[in-house]
Amino acid sequence: MAATMQWNDGFLLGLPAMDDTHREFVQCVAGIQSASDAQLPDRLEDFARHAVAHFGQEQQWMEGSDFPATQCHADEHSAVLASVRDVQALLAQGVNPQVARDLAQALVDWFPGHADYMDASLSQWMSKRSHGGAPVVLRRNVVRNACDVSLELKETP
Ligand SMILES: [Fe+2]
Ligand SMILES: [Fe+2]
Repeated sequence: MAATMQWNDGFLLGLPAMDDTHREFVQCVAGIQSASDAQLPDRLEDFARHAVAHFGQEQQWMEGSDFPATQCHADEHSAVLASVRDVQALLAQGVNPQVARDLAQALVDWFPGHADYMDASLSQWMSKRSHGGAPVVLRRNVVRNACDVSLELKETP
């Protein structure tokens, strides 16, 4: 069996509900990777269910906290979910199941950058807000493209 995605504590972002969801993400990807060909449709459906809940939860958090980079973050989620739906449709048509294994690898490659950038910003934003008080300065540096938003959280002295 090929290597499966493993959790590592470098993925921790400090918001326990988000970290739990991300552990589940890793498990669901590993579930696809360790599936037999016959199990792939079910494991993909498990992943899709996870992704809908995972991305929906982050969307709610963004909307509930007036997070400033909601659209960019939501666009990445939508792209992932669309790819999963495409692969589900392909499998249902009986294509080579390698397409699902390639998707799992793409998810492994995608997750660390997304978590470090989009999810970490959201986690910091929410924890600042929930701890009240400290004013937050948000800076946008649009460098490479419209979605390259870097959020810098600063406490005013
Ligand atoms: Fe996430
Ligand atoms: Fe996210």
